[in-house]
This record gives sequence, structure tokens and C-alpha cells, in this order.
Amino acid sequence: MLKRKEKSGMTLGRFSAALGLGAWLFLTGMPASAALRSVGAVLQVKTLEDGVELRLRSGARAKIGFVTPEVLRVRISSTARFEPDASSYALSAPPPRAQAKVQQQGNSLELRSSSGVRVLIRKSPEFSLAIYDAAGRLISADDPARPTAFDAQEGAFETSKRREAYELYYGFGEKALPLSRHQQHMVMWNADVPDYAPGHDPSYQSIPFFIALNEGRSHGLFFNNSWRSWFDMGKTEPQRYRFGSAGGELDYFVFTGGPERSPARVLSDYTALTGRGALPPLWALGYQQSRWSYKTQDEVLRIAREFRQRQIPADVLYLDIDHMDGFRVFTWNPQTFAQPAEMLSALHQQGFRAVTIVDPGIKQDEGFAIYRSGRDAGVFMRNADGSELHAKVWPGVCAFPDFTSAQARDWFGRLYAAPLDLGVDGFWNDMNEPGVFAADGFDKPAIELGPQKTLPLDARHAGDGQPGSHARYHNAYGMQMARASFEGLRQLRPEKRPMVLTRAGFAGVQRYAAVWTGDNSPTWTHLALSLPMLSNLSISGVPFVGADVGGFMGSPSAELYTRWLQAAVLTPYFRTHSNDVSAPREPWAFGPEFEAINRATIELRYRLLPHLYSLFEANERSGLPPMRPLWFAYPHDTQVSLIEDQFLLGADLLVAPVLQEGKLQRQVYFPKGDAWIDWWDGRRYEGGSLLTFKAPLNRLPLFIRAGASVPTQAVVQHTGDMPRTPLTLTVALGAAGSGEVFQDAGEGYGYRQGQFRRLAIRQERGSAAGAQSWTRLQLDIPANAGFQRVAALEFIGLEAAPAELLIDGHAVSEGLRFDASTRRLHLTLPHEGVKQIQIRP
Ligand code: GLC
Repeated sequence: MLKRKEKSGMTLGRFSAALGLGAWLFLTGMPASAALRSVGAVLQVKTLEDGVELRLRSGARAKIGFVTPEVLRVRISSTARFEPDASSYALSAPPPRAQAKVQQQGNSLELRSSSGVRVLIRKSPEFSLAIYDAAGRLISADDPARPTAFDAQEGAFETSKRREAYELYYGFGEKALPLSRHQQHMVMWNADVPDYAPGHDPSYQSIPFFIALNEGRSHGLFFNNSWRSWFDMGKTEPQRYRFGSAGGELDYFVFTGGPERSPARVLSDYTALTGRGALPPLWALGYQQSRWSYKTQDEVLRIAREFRQRQIPADVLYLDIDHMDGFRVFTWNPQTFAQPAEMLSALHQQGFRAVTIVDPGIKQDEGFAIYRSGRDAGVFMRNADGSELHAKVWPGVCAFPDFTSAQARDWFGRLYAAPLDLGVDGFWNDMNEPGVFAADGFDKPAIELGPQKTLPLDARHAGDGQPGSHARYHNAYGMQMARASFEGLRQLRPEKRPMVLTRAGFAGVQRYAAVWTGDNSPTWTHLALSLPMLSNLSISGVPFVGADVGGFMGSPSAELYTRWLQAAVLTPYFRTHSNDVSAPREPWAFGPEFEAINRATIELRYRLLPHLYSLFEANERSGLPPMRPLWFAYPHDTQVSLIEDQFLLGADLLVAPVLQEGKLQRQVYFPKGDAWIDWWDGRRYEGGSLLTFKAPLNRLPLFIRAGASVPTQAVVQHTGDMPRTPLTLTVALGAAGSGEVFQDAGEGYGYRQGQFRRLAIRQERGSAAGAQSWTRLQLDIPANAGFQRVAALEFIGLEAAPAELLIDGHAVSEGLRFDASTRRLHLTLPHEGVKQIQIRP
């Protein structure tokens, strides 16, 4: 059902002149301003419990209300009709409502939440609003010079906000752009963009959410609209930012960041609305090895054996499209993968898991049972004229499940039964923007973002009761595919956590899948780009993110691969992957010298896995991602606002990889307010300093925050060995602080029924100043129900062996080892019941 005229022209910007204004406008999403009509003055006000409903001169209707005392929702519809919340794929549930006090005075209306957030609405000559925090500071204000306006004919609209010159914007999901997206123009339109150049937009994922930062204070905005939308964050006019869409409703949420106006609070409130990342199975945090493709089952088994023989830890091997029979999804090539069950069981015996690729295109082939079943069940997408929609992808002409229909999701989800029964452990949803190939006989230049690259915009979707065009649901398609996979897997194996990886996504994708940044390139520029891309995805609510290590589109040099592996080792999703023509890229492929370094790099990941896992569990509770840009944790330190070549893992580890060819040192900035200790040699550095560190090829500059405690373990070859491996708590001395460790079965949902334990470590400092005053450590280690045993503590940041160490008041001399080269003091714990340790330098 198509209510409005929809355009189908899309091209790259540089072709816009040749293609005419119409196509260009759809691409940018920008309406031709001549056709825009302002919403006009407020004619009528109806007070609601959470805010107001307004009738505007243009005939539009607005609803402005509080979702929580710190979150405001603004909705304006030119048709005076509002979509039901259930039709938004981004929201994890219909948002709640919070009480507002409404006051009218002359030309203005005031809404006040219970926490003191205020919205001032000016009624005429044009509707506009401004939001103030409880301390009376302006958070965000409409720009009266460019009022909200609609194009009633085409359905497009835009709105604008005033911008201060130094306001920065982060987030927007996956964008191949610098860390802060101020003065950028961005389009939300999921696109298959192999070999994307830095600066190229749009990208595979669309997340219309950002966090603003101005003088240390944050707020956030989420534009709940899945049509092709755009943001101009002060590019055209630095004094305002604008956003709009080609269709649908103006529906956005403003997150005030609470009384602190903190980015963490913004993100926590945003993820309360769109959902939090589901805790992955522990094995999915291990190292993963992929290529397009390991071509035979023997090759897969050889790779597995080599990892084990060479003692390079790894958990997962990937089977790309060539494992299938003619690229038909959920099949196996009868020649090259003749005994998949045997292969999978041999992998499992060596502690490997297998992930297979699953594309959305289903070969239109009468001899293919899955095609026939989908056609008979009526779950495939249809063209505007009602015929089954076909487009070409890997297998040739394909039909496409309509993942916006519960029936289609259900049908697709059940297809996972066969690979699960064989023993496949996880699944990789690719090409789900959807990206398609040009049809036979296509006689136009093959433009990268041309209409031939996805489905026709007027194709039909069921929309779970809100039928609509592909123009409306395109951006949600990939995420709904990931949902079909996730929900299918949960149904089929309720005792396991699904492992789904997706290339395309929309706001809320974190509920279903991990995300990787698609077909990147084996260049130093792309290596550097991976950090702002991943940290912005992370603070867009998506915790489980990674980039193909080494760059997908070809062959990296040995040095580039080795540096990339280091840069990625502490990113949440850690996979090497490469295309069909690239040289072999296993960690040993570059000769013995590099193999040794790459092994040590992957070993670092495994040492820190208990910590990474704890961070993922914390994310499920708080929405805070494992990977964080520095500004997110230190919004008041203006020196870090634009730092994109360092990141934080959790709150306590600072990672500063080498991102340039031939460089054997790099500068590191330590954010103000904390001291940092070199992970490798134990030296301490004060916050606020910029220092140069040696970084030979075998060194990833890594620092731990003084006061932090993180769990580590001895190197294991895969996560299956962890239960037998004891933990060491690594404690960075020199400041008060705390740490938490989460332990459970690493799989399944027992942890939601209390089957876990949480260790707490608290560090208190004596009165003397500096790093060398006494430290008291309070340990809270609950009774062990079979989890990794805590066997030791390692203190880092001591100048020399301590003069005295007391365990629960008793002086200890045995089980202590001080290593002067790393400034680490190792202490074997007599038992897990230790409550207090006191150290005097
Ligand atoms: C796409 C994916 C890539 C995959 C290839 C073949 O290019 O992005 O990761 O290897 O298709 O399936």
C-alpha cells in the first residue's frame, strides 16, 4: 500500500548533475526547499498527562511529551495521523510516559518534568521549542529561522536546531567519517559499498542517533524514522544543524543526559528505548578466522589443525559462500563439503566452533526445496504489481523473504534447524541491505549506489501490520533478517545464546546481532578509520563490533596485518577475514618473525578475556559498551574530544595502537583526572600529559588506570579451556578505585536465574601522597559454584618489592614474587576466602 508518490532515482553525488535534481534529492534525502511548507503557528493546545498535543496552522499535528523525566519525545505529523509505536522496528517496546506539568502563558507553553527538565514552546508566528535542563541551561533549541517544514505532496520534511560553533556530534552508527561528525552531511540508507573510501557515505548500517558534546555537557537525539533520512550537522550552515527524511513521521527523542548531562546517561537512556546488546556466548569473544572462502572441508580442518599445532589461540572458523551448493542458502556443496557433520564434529573436538554465512537471496529454482517452500508459504517480497520480486545475487536470480512479516521471519528462522542439527554454532547474515547485482542486460553505467544495487523502492513489505514500500522499510530489512535469525535460533535452541553477525542494521540492531564494518580495504588509512568507526558504532548502542582484520579487499603487507591485529585485539568482535583473491591471511602466513608477534597479540586477547566478558555482561545492564572513545569517559577534558587513534576498553584500559607504516613509536595522551600505568613495564603517568612511547613491531601501547582491578588468566588455546584455568586479579595501584568480575557458564541463560557470581574488588589508599602510600584491598569473592577459581593477585605500579604485605592482618612472605622489569608483584592467594590485603611500600 503506497500512500504517497515515491521516487526511485538514486545515484552517487558526482553523477547527480547528469541525472537531474529529482534523483539527487532522493539520494541526499533533502527535499527541494521550494516545495516545503512550514508547520505554522499553534492553533490549539490539548493538555495530556505527559505533555501536550497541538494543532498547527498547516494542518499538521504535534505531540510533545516526556518518556521519562530525562527523555522528551517530539512527534509532528503533516497528515495529523500518528503511526502506532508497535510499527517502529527501532523501539524495543512502546516507550513509557512520564508526567509533565503544563503551563500556558501568552505566546508560550511550558512543560516541566518531575526532575525539572523544561520545554518552552513558542506558539506563533511559528511553532518552535527549546529544552532546558534542571539547572536552567539550554540543551537544544529549534532554529526559528528555519522552522519545521513538510512537503505535503512528496511526504518529505525537515527540521533544524541552533548549533553553537564548538558543539560536536558523535554516533550515527557506522560511518566512514572522522570521530566527531560535526560539519558533516550524512545519509541514512543501508548500502553495499565494497572498498568504501574514507568519507564515503552512506554505509551498510543506519543508526539515526547521536550524542552532542558542548563544554563537557551532553545530550542525545534519536530520529525514529526508517525512511531514507539525512543529517546536516552544520555543514551547510555552521550555526544550525538540520535533519529530515524522504517520508514517514517527524518523530524524535531528546535525551537530556540527566543532571550530570553525561554521555553515559544519554546512552543508557537511548539503549533503554532501543534495547541492549544481548550477552554473547563466551566463545564468540575468542579469536575468529575467516576467508572467502576456505574451499573444502579438508582445508577447513587443516586450518584448524595448524592453529592448534602452532599454539595460536582461536575459537571460531568461518565458512563463506563456497561451502554451499551453487550458493543456495542452507545447503552444502556435495563435492567439497561432502561430510559436513563429520567436519563439524572434528572441529568441535579441537575446541573450534563454526559459523556459516546465510544471505537473504533464495535462488529461484524449482528444484530447490527452500525456494518452493517460501513461495508456497507466500513469504517472499512482491513487486508493486503483486508479482514475486526477483533480483540477482550470488546464486543468480533470487527471491527475498519479507523479513518485515512475522510469518516470513518465522519461516526463515526455522530453516536454521538443519545446520544446527549438523553442528553449526553461529551464523553470519550478509548482503542484507539488501545488496543485489545488476540484472542481465543492464545497459546503464553501474553506479555504486545506483538503484540497481538494491530492491525497487516501490516493492511491497507487510510491515507487521503496517504495510509499506521498500522506501519505508529498506533500512530495517537487514536488522529484521538478523531478528529472524536470532529469534529462530532462540526457539530452536533455547538453552543457547544465538551468535548472529550482520552486515546491515538499523537502530536497535544490537538486540539481535554483532556487526562488522563490511568490505574494508587493506590500507593504513582503513586501519586508522576502523577505530572511529567502531567507537562510534559502540556509542550508538551497538556493543559487539569489529572490522575485518587486515582489510577485506586484498592483501595487506606483513607489517600492516601485524599492526592491524594489535589494533583490533581489544575491539569487541575480533575476526580476520579477506576476499577471494587475497593472499593467505592466517596469523602464520607472513613468516616466523610475524607469526611470533601475531601469536603474542592473540594471546593478549585470551589473557584479558575474563575482563572483556565482564564488560559485555555490564553492557547488558547499563548499555555502556566495551569499546569507548576517550571523550565519552572524559567529556570535560577538551583535549580528548577529537582523539580517534586511542580508545578505552571499559573504563580501565587505554589502547593506543600504531596506525602508521614504519612507525616504531607514537604519542599517547592521558586524559585528565586519572593516572595511568604502562601495562608492560609498570611505569606511572599522570593524566593531562602527552608523551611519546616506543612501539616496536611487537608492542601494542596499553595502559591501565591507577585504581583499577581487572581479571586476567593464563593463555588458553580456546575458551573451552577456561573453566580449568585460574584467574589472576590484576590490580593497578596508586589510586582509590574498584573492579568487578562476572562469571557464569559462558553459555545459555542460567545467569538470568542467578547462576553466576560477581566478584568485587575495592582499593583504598592511605594518607601519604603519591603512588607509594599504603594500599588496602577489600575482596568480596562469593562462594564458588564451579567457576574459574581466583588463584592469584598481581599488583602493578610498584617501584620495588613492598616492605610489608598483610593478608587479613597476617604478614606474608611466601607466595610473593616481585619482577622489577615489569614492576609487578605476584601474590598466590592461599584461598578464595581472603577478605583484605594491605600493602606498605
Ligand atoms: C560480501 C561480504 C564479505 C563476504 C563476501 C562473499 O562481500 O561483505 O564479507 O566474504 O560477500 O560472501
